[in-house]
Amino acid sequence: MESLQKPREGIVEFYAYISQKVSSDLQVFYNPRMEFNRNFSVCAANVLCRKRENVSICDALSASGIMGLRYICEVENVTEVFFCDKNPEAINLISRNLELNGFKFVKNEHGKRIFEKNGKRAIVIKENALRMLSTNIFTGVDLDPYGTPAPFLDSVARATYWKGFAFITATDTAALTGSSPNACLRKYGIFSSRVCFSKELGARILLSAVIKAFAIHGKAFLPRAVLYHEHFYRVFGEVLPRESEITKLMKRFEIISYCEKCKRWFEEPREKCACNEKTKTIGPLYTGSILDKGFLNELYIELEKRGFEKEKRVCKTMLEEAEITTPFYYNLHEFCSALKINPPKIERVIENLKALGFKASRTHFDALGIKTNADWHAFKEILLSTE
Ligand SMILES: C[S@@+](CC[C@H](N)C(=O)[O-])C[C@H]1O[C@@H](n2cnc3c(N)ncnc32)[C@H](O)[C@@H]1O
Ligand SMILES: [Zn+2]
Repeated sequence: MESLQKPREGIVEFYAYISQKVSSDLQVFYNPRMEFNRNFSVCAANVLCRKRENVSICDALSASGIMGLRYICEVENVTEVFFCDKNPEAINLISRNLELNGFKFVKNEHGKRIFEKNGKRAIVIKENALRMLSTNIFTGVDLDPYGTPAPFLDSVARATYWKGFAFITATDTAALTGSSPNACLRKYGIFSSRVCFSKELGARILLSAVIKAFAIHGKAFLPRAVLYHEHFYRVFGEVLPRESEITKLMKRFEIISYCEKCKRWFEEPREKCACNEKTKTIGPLYTGSILDKGFLNELYIELEKRGFEKEKRVCKTMLEEAEITTPFYYNLHEFCSALKINPPKIERVIENLKALGFKASRTHFDALGIKTNADWHAFKEILLSTE
């Protein structure tokens, strides 16, 4: 049973349908657990909007409008937010939520409801987001679909200003993390497989699709952060119109080979592993940088300023893993089970790697993941000698 309640997120109070079970059957969708994601997004937007003026943001799939409301109320330099949803109930709820937060209805114009408060404009429209995105340009686009963002990526790339930014969510984790390779191939055009670094693989598959969609429109999507939490991915990127940047990104696409038996990857196509086992082919996959230290440092300060403790802890781990540019990580338990040994403490392995001069860190993608620039042989040796 769902009921209309009045929760609060950040500085915004709003109406939302809340039920024990979150599903797309709600009159208007709202998932309280995604507050984590929205807190991150508000802070990321503050970092990116600080260096821009008169920012317009599009909350392309608004539902209750909570994300867009938080952008317009909590982000510096945002002067306009566009709310769009195809569900008429959502449009009514967004309007009500704007009024609850002091926005005054001004007029209806070409099917759009326009609201204003202190020189800020909120525009609410009931439309198919694909159509709306194809006829407008925004400084920033936020896309939060049910499941995969794939059908929207071309439209988002087109609608994002050439010096803007885009935040994109995906919740189709089975397709992204190698559990459903055929679904991944259909949606993202990428071969995948079960691997010991599945959570980072998912992030890179999603980013590969996003980078390609923007490249087609002559825009470089520069990843600033990828967040993986519970059941979702969220990519945060800045857009630049430079051909040289697009080429640089596209040159980081590679075919990867993976040996299930050794839990070993090769950043090249290879039929067989050194152990003679046939490898799995993954890709073409973006292998470049996915976490930007400069951006994460600023994000951390924003999270701290607002007292978002859980989010801050995740950001801290991201900052540590951003030091290691080598893609992927080893899952300690999977690697140890391949070696038929009991797993040592993760902290000890990281200490030992560092003591031998390697870079090593945990990763926010996986509580049992170790990211390191040590190669497979070195990692295996250190693991075998760690008590
Ligand atoms: C996951 S919800 C968005 C949640 C929201 N961003 C939040 O933070 O609570 C997805 C929304 O997209 C809307 N939607 C799905 N496909 C759409 C389309 N093609 N055009 C417009 N709205 C669409 C649904 O009605 C639903 O409200
Ligand atoms: Zn092997």
